[in-house]
Amino acid sequence: MSHLFSPIKIKNVEFKNRLVVSPMCEYSAEDGFANNWHLVHLGSRAVGGAGLIITEATAVSPEGRISYADLGIYMDEHIPLLKEITDFIHEHGSVAGIQLAHAGRKASHEVPWKGNAQLLPDDPHGWQTYGPSAIPFSEGQEPPIELDKAGIEKVKSDFKAAAKRALEAGFKVIELHGAHGYLLHQFYSPISNQRTDEYGGSFENRIRLLLEVIDVVQEVWPAENPLFVRLSATDWTEGGWDVNDSIKLAEILKNKGVDLIDTSTGGNILARIPLTPGYQVEYADAVRKTGILTGAVGLITTPQQAEEILQEGKADMIFMAREFLRDPYFPLHAAHALGDDVKWPSQYERAKPRVVHGS
Ligand SMILES: Cc1cc2nc3c(=O)[nH]c(=O)nc-3n(C[C@H](O)[C@H](O)[C@H](O)COP(=O)(O)O)c2cc1C
Repeated sequence: MSHLFSPIKIKNVEFKNRLVVSPMCEYSAEDGFANNWHLVHLGSRAVGGAGLIITEATAVSPEGRISYADLGIYMDEHIPLLKEITDFIHEHGSVAGIQLAHAGRKASHEVPWKGNAQLLPDDPHGWQTYGPSAIPFSEGQEPPIELDKAGIEKVKSDFKAAAKRALEAGFKVIELHGAHGYLLHQFYSPISNQRTDEYGGSFENRIRLLLEVIDVVQEVWPAENPLFVRLSATDWTEGGWDVNDSIKLAEILKNKGVDLIDTSTGGNILARIPLTPGYQVEYADAVRKTGILTGAVGLITTPQQAEEILQEGKADMIFMAREFLRDPYFPLHAAHALGDDVKWPSQYERAKPRVVHGS
C-alpha cells in the first residue's frame, strides 16, 4: 500500500486516504445557501474517492463573504442543504470538512468571471468591509473600516455560531481559514495590521484574534473532531509574516489542540510568487518539524509527486485544488497508478481497471 492510500486517523475521524479536496470557492450560492451545484461538485469528488472534501471558504457572516455568491453558514436556515451534502459525502466513504472564513478587507467583490472588482457599499451587490486597520488590500481600493472591540467580539461569536451550525450540518472537520489575506491572516500579518491595542503590534498581539477564535470554536466543536487551520506561511515580502513566524505559531497551535496546519502562502499583498511544482511543500515540511500534522498544497498534480511528499515525511495529507477540477476521479486514477487496489463505487465497478501487481 502506498503512503497516499494509507488511512490516517485524526482524533476520532478516520480518512481512507491522504487526498484532500482543497477548499475552492464556487461563487454559485445565493444569500449563502448551498444548492445543486455544491451537491454535485462536492458529491462527485466523494464518488471520485477523496479521503476528505473541504467546502469552499464558507462565510461566518454576510459581510465576511468574498462575494455575494459565496457559501455561508451564518443562518440556521443554511444547515439543511449543507446536511444533504455531508450525508452524500459520508455515504460514499469520504469525510466532509468545512472551511470557515471571514474575508475582512477582501470582502465585497464581484465574482471572478464578472471581473473580480471590489464592490462598494452603494453597489446593489456590495457592502462595507472591515479589517484590523484601515489599509486597503491594493492601491486604488477603498480601505476597510478598522474593527473596534465590539466588532472583534462579533467576529468571534460569528465563528462560534458557525462552528455549532457546522456540527449540526454533519461536518466532521473544521478548517479555519487563516490564510490568503483574509481576516485572520490580516490580523497576524504586520502588513495589514497596524493597530496599537492588544490586537496589534507584537507577534503575540497579532496572533491574538486567531487564538481567541480557536478558543470559542473549541467551546462548541467536539474535542474528538479534527480542527485544522490554513495558514499563509509567508507573505513573500520583506517585513511581512514569514516562515519563522509560522513555525512559532504552529508550536502554539499544536499546544492548543489544533490537529493539522494546511500550509499555504501569500494572498495578503500582490507579491511575486515562484510558481513551480510543489512550491509550498517546503513550508509544510518546516512547520511539520514542530510535531504538528501538516497538509501540503500548491501545484501538486501527479500521484508520484504526492506519494513522494508523504514518503519524504514533508506532510501528512495532500491538498489538491485545480487537479481535482480537471479530474474529480483523481484518487481512483492515482490508486491505479500507484498499484493500490481501492474500492470503486459499485455503480462504476465495471469500469475499474485491473491492478497488475509488480508491474
Ligand atoms: C477555483 C479556486 C477557488 C479557490 N478557493 C479557495 C477557498 O475558498 N479557500 C482557500 O483556502 N483556498 C482557495 N483556493 C486555493 C486552493 O485551495 C489551493 O490552495 C490552490 O489552488 C493551490 O493548489 P492547486 O495548485 O492544487 O490548485 C482556490 C483555488 C481555486 C483554483
